[in-house]
Amino acid sequence: MTQDELKQAVARAAIHYVVPGEIIGVGTGSTANFFIDELAKIKQSIPGAVASSEATAARLRSHGIHVLDLNDVVSMPVYVDGADEIDRSGAMIKGGGAALTREKIVASVAEKFICIADGSKLVEVLGKFPLPVEVIPMAHAAVARQLTLLGGQPILRLKDGKPLLTDNGNVILDVHGLQIGNPVAMEALMNNIAGIVTVGLFARQGANVCLLGMETGVKTLVF
Ligand code: 5RP
Repeated sequence: MTQDELKQAVARAAIHYVVPGEIIGVGTGSTANFFIDELAKIKQSIPGAVASSEATAARLRSHGIHVLDLNDVVSMPVYVDGADEIDRSGAMIKGGGAALTREKIVASVAEKFICIADGSKLVEVLGKFPLPVEVIPMAHAAVARQLTLLGGQPILRLKDGKPLLTDNGNVILDVHGLQIGNPVAMEALMNNIAGIVTVGLFARQGANVCLLGMETGVKTLVF
């Protein structure tokens, strides 16, 4: 099976977690895109979706799925999204697609986080994938110095030779070289650095369920 076929398989499996009649939160990235395509097939059963990025909102709308403003939503049972890495406690690294801030916000309003990923994303220790950190532009050099003191090597993410700007107008530092043995503590520590908007560690509030695409089928991990 190709990686895309594994992603498609978990996207299909995640449809079973959609609650009829309820709003759903939708993540960002290639796996989430496959999920949106599956969601389109059952769109009549839900009133709409909350998007975690402009790209996701555009894809939802292109399928005729109503996109709601989070400010108009009090709760939602389920948020479905991919991950760059997930460990055996359900803690994740996210933000490879630069959507970490809105992803964390939408996930915080949902009762359950359903992670969908191909099997290569499951790791024993988080950190091989560089940790994305969204930062206020004027603070990126100062924040980078603080992250270096924590043992990482931060690199400003570029697009077409210029700093990549997120949907929120901020920049991303990708922190290389971390071995994150205690993700909850690391998330709390980084959250205290002035200038950081969002740390791409989803540990304090991690996944509740992970659907992992394996050669043998979809494996379900419950945390
Ligand atoms: C975007 C994310 C994505 O969920 C993460 O990068 C995984 O993406 P993909 O499904 O394309 O592997 O956090 O900010």
